[in-house]
Amino acid sequence: MVANKRPIIIWGSGGHAKSVARIIEAEGKYDIKALYTPKEFTPSYKTVLGYPIIDDLSKFTSEEVLPSIIAIGENNIREKVAQELPDYNLKEIKAVHPQSIILNDLDRIGTGTIIHAQSIIGPDVIIGKHVIISAQCSIGHDSIIEDFVHITPGVRLGGGTLIGRGSFLAMGVVIFPRVRLGKNVRVSANAVVNKDFGDNVILAGNPAKIIKKIASI
Ligand SMILES: CC(C)(COP(=O)(O)OP(=O)(O)OC[C@H]1O[C@@H](n2cnc3c(N)ncnc32)[C@H](O)[C@@H]1OP(=O)(O)O)[C@@H](O)C(=O)NCCC(=O)NCCS
Repeated sequence: MVANKRPIIIWGSGGHAKSVARIIEAEGKYDIKALYTPKEFTPSYKTVLGYPIIDDLSKFTSEEVLPSIIAIGENNIREKVAQELPDYNLKEIKAVHPQSIILNDLDRIGTGTIIHAQSIIGPDVIIGKHVIISAQCSIGHDSIIEDFVHITPGVRLGGGTLIGRGSFLAMGVVIFPRVRLGKNVRVSANAVVNKDFGDNVILAGNPAKIIKKIASI
């Protein structure tokens, strides 16, 4: 047990927030005080894993700067909240499950980023801010993952890949080595991407093809 654990507020109270609470517990550095959701999004349930859901931060943020983490899976909502955060007395942290394997320097993982259990991050990988790497992902050496990307369970990235800002890789996606994806690319479950694609598209299939162009974010 770590003495004098600092209090932390988790921003969000859905399924992703539940998993993030477990990561914070496993890290053992922080004492979860509450999960925060603004009034208009407050769910019908009152607690998550026994932690209270609150809709008012004033009680916690009036005195000292509190550690916090945004636990919202939707990339665009996570980005919106991240823009609002400076209005509050909160300091963002990153969360890395101790059962993931990080073969690079933790400094190369941005603030607000969350890495779930049993993922492997290769050497010289650069991960931006507010990225989600879900369970059992493998991120090949020298890859670059830009801000606000969400990588869901079981995704495998070869070495030297680039995943552009705000992109979403659904479960089981495979990205070939050195492939570069633009910003806001949504890749459908189990797709195999063997060449580069630009911004604002949905990809599906093996080999992956563009199935739809989408609005930029
Ligand atoms: C990539 C993905 C996220 C796209 O979802 P989305 O952005 O919500 O887009 P939609 O589901 O509206 O799909 C857009 C269009 O592409 C089509 N499409 C989506 N996936 C497709 C696929 N694998 N093959 C063919 N067409 C597909 C849809 O039918 C839709 O067509 P329409 O515009 O003619 O109606 C979705 O295909 C997917 O893989 N979801 C799995 C999510 C997941 O893994 N979550 C894990 C959470 S832990």
